Amino acid sequence: MRILMMAGCVLAAGTILFAAGDEAALRSAMKEIGPTCSGLGKKIKAKDATASADAKKLVASFSPVHKFWKAQKAEDGVTFSRTAVGEFKTVSKLTAQGKWEEADASFKKATTTCGGCHGAHREKATDGSWRVK
Ligand code: HEC
Repeated sequence: MRILMMAGCVLAAGTILFAAGDEAALRSAMKEIGPTCSGLGKKIKAKDATASADAKKLVASFSPVHKFWKAQKAEDGVTFSRTAVGEFKTVSKLTAQGKWEEADASFKKATTTCGGCHGAHREKATDGSWRVK
């Protein structure tokens, strides 16, 4: 009986977390994307072959982002996410092949989505934190 009650509690907590969790998932993805992305930019300039793995990591990090905007039914957010994923995939391929100039061009296309989506969907609250709009 005690075990059953505990299981019920865990389930209920899980449901609450899930409901409020979408924005948190987006935020934690962004916290990963930020440093990985700026590191990737530097690695492309330095012709560092480990850039390929970073680009792949970004592709993976954008998966919860894409899901979030799909759930929000925000077409532009979905498109920005899809473009970022597509371009980072290309960056990963090109950096693995040592095609640094093409990789840089693709990287620039990927990073225009950052500003595009932030401009449309991110706003700064009065306490200085970021919010989704
Ligand atoms: C489809 C929309 C979208 C795209 C594309 C996007 N972002 Fe974001 N990003 C957001 C939103 C919305 C927030 C605010 C989330 C929050 O804090 O609740 C955010 C927040 C951030 C933050 C702040 C995280 C924090 O709270 O500390 C960083 C850093 C960031 N994004 C980097 C990037 C970079 C780099 C790219 C491009 C490679 C990118 N983002 C692309 C929507 C997007």
